[in-house]
Amino acid sequence: MTDTKAAPKKSTRATKAGADPEVASGVTQFFTPVVHELTALAVNGKQAHWNVRGRDFLEVHEFLDVVVAHAQEWADLAAERVVALGLPIDARLATIAKDSEAVNPKAGFKQSDETIADVVAQIDVATERVNAAIEGLEELDPASQDVAISIRQGLDKDRWFLAAHTSVE
Ligand SMILES: [Fe+2]
Repeated sequence: MTDTKAAPKKSTRATKAGADPEVASGVTQFFTPVVHELTALAVNGKQAHWNVRGRDFLEVHEFLDVVVAHAQEWADLAAERVVALGLPIDARLATIAKDSEAVNPKAGFKQSDETIADVVAQIDVATERVNAAIEGLEELDPASQDVAISIRQGLDKDRWFLAAHTSVE
């Protein structure tokens, strides 16, 4: 005899994410590179903030501090999501230097166009990691995917504000 009753709806993992090691491990896998690239963006963003030169110096100098503050804030958001699920985050300097694909800007003073291009390139690297998290976490943990989506929205806006100063697309 066939049971015609509908199968009980599979509960989403999101409701018990904190207790599910598979979810915690998956979120760590996707968020660790996000934390690394956002931290790299914060460090190289400060480098850019200090060394930018050019006619629009003051505006770019000041906005780069906004980019840095956002990168730190979003790295914190992603890292604390991992920790909230019960796993540690490895964002040690040596780990970031080894694993990150950060743009390594030339040392010394630079004109604002070159400075902006470097920072936009770093934003693009971070955005790639965030996109991977958005895609990879959709099924695994929608609550973490939501964090990644909010970071993506912020990165897009900062990229626009910076790129609009130059011919950078
Ligand atoms: Fe400053």
